[in-house]
Amino acid sequence: MKILLTGASGLLGSAFAKAASRRKHGVIGIVGSFSGQIDGLESKRKIDLLDRFATERKVLEVFPDVIVNCAAFSYPSRCEEEPEKSNRLNVELPAQLASLAKHLFAKFIHISSEQVFDGHNPPYRRTDSVSVINHYAKQKVDSEQRVHEIAAEFATTLRVPLLSGNSPSGNRSLHERLLRDWSQGKETPLFTDERRQVCLVDNLADVLVELCERNDLKGIYHWAGSESLSRYDMGTKIAERFGLSTELIVSAKRDDQAWAANRQPDLSMDLEPLKGLLKTSPQTFDQQLESLIVPVQLRAWYNSI
Ligand SMILES: NC(=O)c1ccc[n+]([C@@H]2O[C@H](COP(=O)([O-])OP(=O)(O)OC[C@H]3O[C@@H](n4cnc5c(N)ncnc54)[C@H](OP(=O)(O)O)[C@@H]3O)[C@@H](O)[C@H]2O)c1
Repeated sequence: MKILLTGASGLLGSAFAKAASRRKHGVIGIVGSFSGQIDGLESKRKIDLLDRFATERKVLEVFPDVIVNCAAFSYPSRCEEEPEKSNRLNVELPAQLASLAKHLFAKFIHISSEQVFDGHNPPYRRTDSVSVINHYAKQKVDSEQRVHEIAAEFATTLRVPLLSGNSPSGNRSLHERLLRDWSQGKETPLFTDERRQVCLVDNLADVLVELCERNDLKGIYHWAGSESLSRYDMGTKIAERFGLSTELIVSAKRDDQAWAANRQPDLSMDLEPLKGLLKTSPQTFDQQLESLIVPVQLRAWYNSI
């Protein structure tokens, strides 16, 4: 299968490239600013996806069987700061790709987020009403609506949780950011009362490959890990996984922090019906930890302690 992958240099996109190439699919990756090596790609092209014409030209030139959209402005704070740019990438781009997929009779796989819910009534089923509390969440909801209005019979959207894994930049995921802070001796306050059903990108990538290979799973689905943990418990398990002391982890409560008032307390999701329809199974956090490595830029520090 010929797969066009946007966001190939991101945390999830880079994991998808490897998973799809293991299944012998040809993956053509689009990156933005990243210029390093990405394993699993048949070819790679730098394109500014904010540019509608360049995007359209590349999609038509590749003529893929599937488009997998992992590109995004994925930091909620950046979406607040740059509403127009982020709207282009998080809403207009998926809508454009959905329309191109329909035109080419290709599948379209789009990534949304657990953040479409407000976190007060978990676990969330895929049919539950969304309730957005920030710009990023609003953009994800708008993208879902646009994609499925434009190309219902071609599109699958997966709402995913906080992601774990090893990123090409080495500073994108939770364990990478915690290790960087700890390498600088910084204390890290982590909430005991904010829960997420974290998922390893390699596991999610296997799900995306299954979706590429299946014709019967159109619509909006949920995928995540098999358990929900507080951020404090995640941080503690990460420290233990790397044999580090937990003394730099500070137990904090979101309820005590005014700035955290608009964060969702618990974004756990119900994974049915997808969980029962796929070969890939959701993983515990301990299973995910086995795949995490120390980023290259922190190895000298790590080996010295
Ligand atoms: N990470 C999480 O915890 C999380 C949680 C829930 C949902 N999600 C969703 O999952 C999907 C993947 O997220 P991720 O964490 O893998 O994202 P990421 O690591 O932040 O990567 C974003 C990707 O988008 C590309 N990109 C950004 N602006 C671009 C532009 N103007 N032109 C071309 N490419 C551009 C980046 O390319 P360059 O780096 O090369 O510029 C990068 O490949 C997103 O839809 C995100 O919203 C992520």
